[in-house]
Amino acid sequence: MTESKLDENKVWIDGCFDFTHHGHAGAILQARRTIPQGMKTGELFCGVHSDEAISINKGKPVMNSAERYEHTRSNRWCSYVVEDAPYVTQPEVLNDYGCKYVVHGDDITLDANGEDCYQVMKNLGRFKVVKRTVGVSTTDIIHRMLTGEYIYDNSLPDIELIKMYASDKDGFSTKCFVYKHNFEEILVEGKILTHEQNIIISGDFDLFHMGHIEQLSKINELYPNYNVIIGLNLNDENDNKTIMSLTERLLSVLSCKYIDGIIIEPKFDQINDKIIKIDSTELVKNGKFSEYLTKQTIIDRIKNDRQIYISRNEKKGMVYN
Ligand code: CTP
Repeated sequence: MTESKLDENKVWIDGCFDFTHHGHAGAILQARRTIPQGMKTGELFCGVHSDEAISINKGKPVMNSAERYEHTRSNRWCSYVVEDAPYVTQPEVLNDYGCKYVVHGDDITLDANGEDCYQVMKNLGRFKVVKRTVGVSTTDIIHRMLTGEYIYDNSLPDIELIKMYASDKDGFSTKCFVYKHNFEEILVEGKILTHEQNIIISGDFDLFHMGHIEQLSKINELYPNYNVIIGLNLNDENDNKTIMSLTERLLSVLSCKYIDGIIIEPKFDQINDKIIKIDSTELVKNGKFSEYLTKQTIIDRIKNDRQIYISRNEKKGMVYN
């Protein structure tokens, strides 16, 4: 497509999206919100780099390309995933999808030669910047697993931020309900729930990954007449601290297109009516991802390649003895 035919409402964002954490989700959400509400042609294309491109330019990713592609695809604000997107953003690729602008967080990304990956787009006036989410990065999550130090408090973020992450596909309209403890304490009012009955899937959803997402997608498929509500517990099933804080897990789960609502720290003695509780692990025993992917799988990847991840993080300024 020639440059004059490009659509201002078709937007591109690209990245590694390793772990596809809530900072990435925040960038995707903000990219979507650069398209004004109500624009019929509005679409967000998420270009995701291959394992090879990331290894050459940045260092070995923890999550593989199939996991990162699919996780990004499950993000409610992403219209399409473009797999194997070039590490250095190419205007011709954006042109192929009719996208006028690329969006990126307010940090500089360099390729293996130390060049700004967005310089060409900046020179063309086709680059937009959004605010990077403070306090989370792939480096930091790897660091937590390398050291076993999970330092955070479990306070909830500003309601306005929760509201943004609870938004529908366009990044503005309401979608998910956010409750605390039970259905009476409403933190964010969502879209009117379509169904009478709720299914609650409770867990800690730590390192929110494709194992979880595949289950949520399957539940949507098997129970089309139920609202899918997440019961987000404070700690893990043995009451141990999670790797990711409550806020980090809340925002990650909220960005997933397969849910209708979240109850933070559910109190089941207060919400017995209108719910069925299911053991979702039974549903997807042979799932493409759930068959092998758990929190422990991810921890083991870091453990088994400890030296590689230490070197990768040292390049980002982390110090290990
Ligand atoms: N991003 C963000 N906030 C973060 C981390 C990333 O807004 N805390 C944004 C980046 O600015 C970019 C997009 O998410 O626009 C994809 O980032 P990615 O290429 O995956 O990696 P990094 O920017 O290196 O972030 P990280 O180290 O967390 O992977």
